[in-house]
Amino acid sequence: MLTNWAPSVYSRLSLCEGRQHDPETTVSISQDFRIHDFDRRVCRICAELWLIDVKEINRLQHIAVDKSRLHIPILFGFDVIHGYRTVFPVPLGMASSWDPSVEEQAQRLAGQDARAAGIQWTFTPMVDIARDARWGRIVEGAGEDPYLGAAMAMAQVRGFQGATLGPDSVLACVKHYAGYGAAEGGRDYDSSYIPEELFRNVYLPPFHAAAMQGAGSFMSAYMDLNDVPASGNQWLLTDILRGDLGFKGFVVSDAFAVASLVTHGYAADPSDAAYKAVTAGLDMDMASGTYTNNLPKLVADGKVSQAQLDAAVLPILAIKYQLGLFDHPFTDESKVESTLSRPEGLALERKLAARSMVLLRNENKTLPLSKSLKKVAVIGPLADSKSDIEGGWTVEGLFGSGSKSHPVTVLAGIKSALGADAQVTYVVGPDPSKVYLGLLDQLSGKKVLPAPTAAETADWLAKVKAAAADADVVVAVMGETSGMSSESASRAGMELPGMQQQMLEETAQSGKPVVLVLENGRPLDIHWAAEHVPAILESWFPGTEGGNAVADILFGDVNPGGKLPVSWPRTAGQEPLYYNHNLTHEPEDRPSFASRYWDIKSTPLYPFGYGLSYASFKFDNLKLSKANMKTDEATEVSVDVTNTGAVAGDAVGQLYIHQRSGSASRPVRELKGFKRIALKPGETQTLKFTLGQHQLQFWSPQTKVWAVEPSTFDVWAGDDSAAKLHSEFSVAQ
Ligand code: GLC
Repeated sequence: MLTNWAPSVYSRLSLCEGRQHDPETTVSISQDFRIHDFDRRVCRICAELWLIDVKEINRLQHIAVDKSRLHIPILFGFDVIHGYRTVFPVPLGMASSWDPSVEEQAQRLAGQDARAAGIQWTFTPMVDIARDARWGRIVEGAGEDPYLGAAMAMAQVRGFQGATLGPDSVLACVKHYAGYGAAEGGRDYDSSYIPEELFRNVYLPPFHAAAMQGAGSFMSAYMDLNDVPASGNQWLLTDILRGDLGFKGFVVSDAFAVASLVTHGYAADPSDAAYKAVTAGLDMDMASGTYTNNLPKLVADGKVSQAQLDAAVLPILAIKYQLGLFDHPFTDESKVESTLSRPEGLALERKLAARSMVLLRNENKTLPLSKSLKKVAVIGPLADSKSDIEGGWTVEGLFGSGSKSHPVTVLAGIKSALGADAQVTYVVGPDPSKVYLGLLDQLSGKKVLPAPTAAETADWLAKVKAAAADADVVVAVMGETSGMSSESASRAGMELPGMQQQMLEETAQSGKPVVLVLENGRPLDIHWAAEHVPAILESWFPGTEGGNAVADILFGDVNPGGKLPVSWPRTAGQEPLYYNHNLTHEPEDRPSFASRYWDIKSTPLYPFGYGLSYASFKFDNLKLSKANMKTDEATEVSVDVTNTGAVAGDAVGQLYIHQRSGSASRPVRELKGFKRIALKPGETQTLKFTLGQHQLQFWSPQTKVWAVEPSTFDVWAGDDSAAKLHSEFSVAQ
């Protein structure tokens, strides 16, 4: 059907040639995205981003559909990362639920909101594996593991696109292809050096899973991968993506990544950048205008062929057709506000936020707290911060005309749970972000904030001491501001910023029960709190209803069941830190000459997959259907999980393997199955997993192929990556 839409040679050129753009007259199409800034220099657009004014969206669409020469509708794209009006937990939080349906439900509602508001394309899911928690964008992904990351990637694609791409879908855009999370030093945008076996076994699987789920678009990354920038990298964009993965959609560059090929020192000039990008397999230049300004001449000179142009354009047209844009290009403005403010969004958000939280410590059953408490002191600069509890990348907050949601802070949630009879005091403390650098500086205009003076510090600590002395329980709400883990927001240190640590230590000296609630976008250095604060709840940035969700857990209305999707370090010096590392010749548990640090333990403070509950669980009866099998067979694994606690709760059964020998050293453990289940006190359920080709194969640096190799395999089952319940099986050729 669409082939007869294929434009003639002349109009192929017009898809990309530059022409004076006047928004009042013609807007026709090219392959270029354009930042919505009415820059009269730039001409034609096939898609528009960072525009959420639905009247303007319709106005531009009428120009495209009614007045442009080809009448092809515009695709409106936006970063709907974790919610539109109703903001869900940040993706690292949702991944902590270890329940893909959490991401699917959240992104489905977010997609419905976005489509109703005129956005048909979202730059989500971000599926970058992150092994270095100093990297600010760890907050946007699903953590360090390819198996968990793949499951969350597929769930997000299903949420936005549905089972197949259609008129109710929002087109997903899988990013940042690929290897962005391996930025050296955790420094955002820095170079990524990833050997092919690590790339194929760890960084690529979530992208592959998203493509298999039918994601219609990918976004190429900014950084250089093994010295070749991702957005001009033919191995990535054509050989792997179209060849190995069989991807049929289109690839858009990250914002200015085409122009950046010159900055990288890879392209000689913008024309060379356009040439290298389009011939590498990059279909759309998001916002740099490099295609608009240079492709027409490259095509006219025959340096870029018609076939290459068609290959870039047709997937874009095909997807616009599948999205129903040709049949229904305009947005019904009368339904936007009623859709965005429907109440079911907030109820869902509160439920998913609580499901995403991780209980890290609970000594002496400090939690849950009693709702009959009369005096509670709340301490910390994040406790009543509406701007931070929703995290970064909020649609209306960051790019729109200001957030129209009504975030519930932790302080508000605690007050609501305790009712008017309780005395809830609050000591905010100084702004924890002593220095804002980079993106935030431009967006918020925040300059360097002076650190508190000695007098100010003493005054704040006196206030904390007095509040704690007069309270039955203290809840400290601390962590990072939402701008400290985002794009161009990495950190060299991971301690509690500002004066929070001093305030926390002052609180602990009161002798009262203290609960630390963390709001943050990455693991933090809380090694002191882990020994001195009896209860620690990781809430991440829990979203619009976050304060109520935190209160639901603090007061026992919800039993926490989340697990860490990242290894939690003792200090930043351990980064990069990840559980699926190789054994080395002297593993860290050796008595001497071991692979460890002199000054601290080399193990994480909390392991990947860790999280506590108000209940307790026992794993036993681990069985394998086959103890010996061939490389083309599978063994069925079963394990019993029992709630040995006094309250109902969720367990997350996790299955790990280790291949003891083969054509390459294999990680000490690899996650190959997980399931979150609800158990009543005393209840036992049997979890079943399959270990076959999909789970056991890996890409070998020696054989250069995917294969299940003959070996003995260890198997562990339990509720984190340090699980002890063990069995083994052998695989023969
Ligand atoms: C940004 C980010 C990318 C985002 C894009 C459009 O630079 O790297 O994740 O989707 O620009 O906003």
